[in-house]
Amino acid sequence: MSQIKNDLFLRALRGESVQRPPVWMMRQAGRYLPEFMEIKEKYDFFTRCRTPELASEITVQPIRRYGMDAAILFSDILVIPQAMNIEVEMKPNFGPWLPDPIREPKDLERVVVPDINDSLGYVMDAIKMTKEKLNDEIPLIGFAGSPWTILCYCVQGQGSKNFDKAKEFCFTEPEAAHALLQKITDTTILYLKEKVKAGVNAVQVFDSWGGMLSPTDYQEFSWQYIQQIVDALKHETHVIVFGKGCWFALNVMAQSGASALGVDWTCSARNARYLSGGNITLQGNFDPSRLFSPPSEITKMVTQMIREFGKDRYIVNLGHGILPNIPLENVEAFINAVKDYKE
Ligand code: CP3
Repeated sequence: MSQIKNDLFLRALRGESVQRPPVWMMRQAGRYLPEFMEIKEKYDFFTRCRTPELASEITVQPIRRYGMDAAILFSDILVIPQAMNIEVEMKPNFGPWLPDPIREPKDLERVVVPDINDSLGYVMDAIKMTKEKLNDEIPLIGFAGSPWTILCYCVQGQGSKNFDKAKEFCFTEPEAAHALLQKITDTTILYLKEKVKAGVNAVQVFDSWGGMLSPTDYQEFSWQYIQQIVDALKHETHVIVFGKGCWFALNVMAQSGASALGVDWTCSARNARYLSGGNITLQGNFDPSRLFSPPSEITKMVTQMIREFGKDRYIVNLGHGILPNIPLENVEAFINAVKDYKE
């Protein structure tokens, strides 16, 4: 494998000392970019995901404009249920829509653990094309949703403030819920291993809705499956686990073999370091809404955030995905505050 020229991100994942921390942004390929909106007007969501020329172009768009230290492949966590024979649509101005959600044990009969290259080969093609475009300048991140977060959509059938139907399913039909979680886990492991073979340099597991569960239920319905994924991947690549609202699990996560843990903005740097034991690389945790503040204030806040986390074992990021309508110059202030950081 050839050497990556800017390896700040990989060095932070290995826990090595760096001049400044690396920076990237969750959902950095997105709606705040005019060049993304141009492609979005012409092609629907899954066409963008399934066409390697489009997916790789969208992946490198934010890099060209801002020079982040890592790229994340343009795709979606919901390509997994799709490949498992659960229909997923992306409705404009609405979000994910699953016309035939899983609501009772017999619905599981149609759910398969697919052959990855048959059903998701387009993702591997997009990775290979993106690696060519990146030309080993920076690393490429691959990702998947956590099994729990994927179950949330499979059962709820759409986005939700509390995923009440998903939780009801888990608590009334725990056996079926665990069978579904295991099928998603098995698929996700195969999928991420193929992504590594195709060339990604690290993978992130997004547990966006883990914080919906109590700490006890989190262990049972989310964490044990993420742990299986970490166990299966940690010898092949770096695994980053991001659990939104999951600060209560940072101590267990820190023992898992993951290279880094994502933190959201409701947990202070000090508390995150304390809970995770002080040795593991942390990633986060700027409030995405704070990118609406004026650029001068963003610069100050980012510099302060780096001081609080410390420049080593730290990856600058948002605490969740970037919002639409963020002014371009505010994103620039966020990225440049990291690049200009001096001790
Ligand atoms: O980070 C990146 O830039 C890479 C691309 C990426 C997308 N989705 C593209 C996308 C990633 C990493 C995701 C992950 C994802 N998808 C998550 C986990 C991260 C998170 O935000 O919590 C979740 C929960 C989803 C499911 C999903 N996809 C939702 C809820 C929505 C609709 C809401 C929204 O953000 O628009 C999507 C659609 C989606 N995925 C868009 C993009 C750029 C916007 C729709 C479009 O472009 O047509």
